[in-house]
Amino acid sequence: MADKLHFFDTTLRDGEQVPGCQLDIPEKLLIAKELELLGVDIIEAGFPVSSPGDFKAVELIAKSIKNATVCGLTRAVENDITVAAQALKDAVHGRIHTGIGTSDSHVKDKLKTTREDVIERGVKAVKFARNLVPEVEFYAEDAGRTENEYLARVTEAMINAGATIINIPDTTGYCLPHQYAAKIEYLMNNVPNIDKAILSTHCHNDLGLATANSIAGVIAGARQVECTINGIGERAGNTSLEEVAMILKQHKEIALTHRIDSKMLTSMSKLIEEKMRMPVQPNKAIVGSNAFAHSSGIHQDGVLKNRETYEIIDPADVGALGSEIVLTARSGRAALNFHAKKLGYNLSVEELNESYERFLEVADKVRNIEDAHLIELFEKVEA
Ligand code: KIV
Ligand code: ZN
Repeated sequence: MADKLHFFDTTLRDGEQVPGCQLDIPEKLLIAKELELLGVDIIEAGFPVSSPGDFKAVELIAKSIKNATVCGLTRAVENDITVAAQALKDAVHGRIHTGIGTSDSHVKDKLKTTREDVIERGVKAVKFARNLVPEVEFYAEDAGRTENEYLARVTEAMINAGATIINIPDTTGYCLPHQYAAKIEYLMNNVPNIDKAILSTHCHNDLGLATANSIAGVIAGARQVECTINGIGERAGNTSLEEVAMILKQHKEIALTHRIDSKMLTSMSKLIEEKMRMPVQPNKAIVGSNAFAHSSGIHQDGVLKNRETYEIIDPADVGALGSEIVLTARSGRAALNFHAKKLGYNLSVEELNESYERFLEVADKVRNIEDAHLIELFEKVEA
């Protein structure tokens, strides 16, 4: 049987950290319920010690969600862990996500300590958390820039302490896909107790590589992917959930099962866009408004003959309305005729040619061609 890939959604934690994206408690609960319906396996609901509001949100989500694990973030600090465990006390499946920086930059410049001390603090935190909740995930912050040999020692120690999920974040979005894959592969091959845990990807998008790195990590053996709706998150954002889900659908050679209902991706994206007041760029993969819009004549001609000439995803698979044939000055006769038919005009070849000449004049001047422009044009040639 194919392995399962666990989807860990951190829209409500890494995503909600984004300036201007703050949510109130009812909004967080609504989003958590939609994520549960979407089929997410783990919902990172917040960072309970960070504010009373976040504590209450995690507590309420933990009480309400039955079909996904609810996770709370902590630093490797006892008070953070105690508070997170309190917030998660009513969860059917509760998880604490604790961790500490492991790169030299974090160890020396941020924590001003030693590698050994970092391992000690991590182990203490994992053991402490493991006594309070059934499941502990450990994050090695800035693992992307952490030397692999040391990262393997950290991983082994945290698994021995009781962590069953080890998160390997590319916190600064630094790695190239082959480097991130090599890191996961190194851990899979060099951590003696790796069979007692799963590795998780958590990739940031500073170089636009978050999704590519996550997929590279999954191919190399990671079995949990941390992501957000629309790829929102700290700075340039996180891996976007919708991209990973559709990559798995398109590339069956990555033979992993999962529970995501891809038909909900468009509505989920719109919900996050609206509630978090964070517009999705039109050319965003999968959920951008232009993701299924065709505007050049060559492409339109192909799509009108067979959608698959220029579309690898069926819009219906992501719950989108359908392919769009957008009229611009780069469009061709096939697209104009398509719109004419939609508006009820059956143009002869001569009428189409004449309309097309007039259309180009209008399209060179007007950015958005509306139905009203077309009707005026078709009426003139039919007169
Ligand atoms: O990017 C990161 O390293 C994180 C951790 C807190 C998991 O968000
Ligand atoms: Zn992050």
